Amino acid sequence: MNDIPPIPSKAATTVNDLLDNCACVQAGQNVLILAANDGLRGGANIVDEATVGWIEAGVRERGADARVMWVDMPERQTVIWPGIATRDTVWRIPAEVKAAMKEADLLISHVFDLSSEEHIKELPEILREIELPMVRNMASTAPLLMTDWARTPHDLIAEIRYRMGELIVAGEPWELTHPNGTHLRGVVGPGPRTRPTYVYWRRDGFYRPFPDGIYPAVNPVDCEGIYIFDRMMPIWAHNIGVPPLFSQPVTITVEQNHVAKVEGGTEAETLRGFLSALAKALGEDHAYEIRAPHGGVHPSALVTPAECPDADYREFIASFHPSSLHMHLGQGGRNKDFPYSLHTACEIRGGTLTVGAFKVHDGGRMAVLDHPSVLDVAARTPDLPGVAGISALSA
Ligand SMILES: [Fe+2]
Repeated sequence: MNDIPPIPSKAATTVNDLLDNCACVQAGQNVLILAANDGLRGGANIVDEATVGWIEAGVRERGADARVMWVDMPERQTVIWPGIATRDTVWRIPAEVKAAMKEADLLISHVFDLSSEEHIKELPEILREIELPMVRNMASTAPLLMTDWARTPHDLIAEIRYRMGELIVAGEPWELTHPNGTHLRGVVGPGPRTRPTYVYWRRDGFYRPFPDGIYPAVNPVDCEGIYIFDRMMPIWAHNIGVPPLFSQPVTITVEQNHVAKVEGGTEAETLRGFLSALAKALGEDHAYEIRAPHGGVHPSALVTPAECPDADYREFIASFHPSSLHMHLGQGGRNKDFPYSLHTACEIRGGTLTVGAFKVHDGGRMAVLDHPSVLDVAARTPDLPGVAGISALSA
């Protein structure tokens, strides 16, 4: 800690927001701060020592105990098929991390390989079993802490996310369109498996992403139509073996919530191969099931190469921008033996999502930006990045 440089005031704003409004650190807590050492040397778990040191100092300032753990994450193959791992053969969270988690009251993780949404099911299962809340700090370097993305108040994004969730009502028809020819339609099914609706805060949950930036995925019923996309969020693009930005668009024909046809160039061919391998692991019905849509709600989720030199990470952050919507391919959640949190996020930028009478998204505009609660929260922090540059649909 002695070698940590003084914190710039811009980064201090972010660290305070993270600790007070997302992590909700309390005096007397045992806080585990996790980072992976590959992230200091060009690996995927991008991090720097200053960020970890500033967060450690902030935790101690709040009267909590901070334990910093630098971990070596297991090596593994990037492309996960054709022989998709089972619970017995998939990579595991290092034992020393699991032991430390069991002693903690709160986890602040900078390990990109550990998320509840995109990697292995082992992590969310442990968090639930030991009732350990995890903050996933994605602003994991000093330059990222100083971006408008990270400095936008956490409560503002939480409010936008909550109000977007209110627009997703079970039983309403939904429609997703894009000038590229995409036209999907269906009915909104019941909310996420653990909740009856799409309206909930994350501040008391086990998974607290920072910055937050996406609202709950629509559970589609009777989804039909054409979905055309040319990009995929980098984690599952690499797991499947396609580039995050495709050389040619992929066209998916959807019938009764299932992928009926995948057409396009080399990426379509790879996706067809992946889905047939997935069918061996999940069964045809779940492998070809289509899920979502949902999308980004963070007005400043676009960072520059100077702020983040890693192109994949910039693309990942951009998926939280309101212009971004995605569908998921495959349903891995219902198969207990399938070890991955399947998040095959097929992304479009600039689409229009309508639910019932409301346009939720339209080319980067959001329906809730003139909601009184959103305006109220935004007005509390006039000097911080907010919703400028993104307009309300009803304006
Ligand atoms: Fe998603």
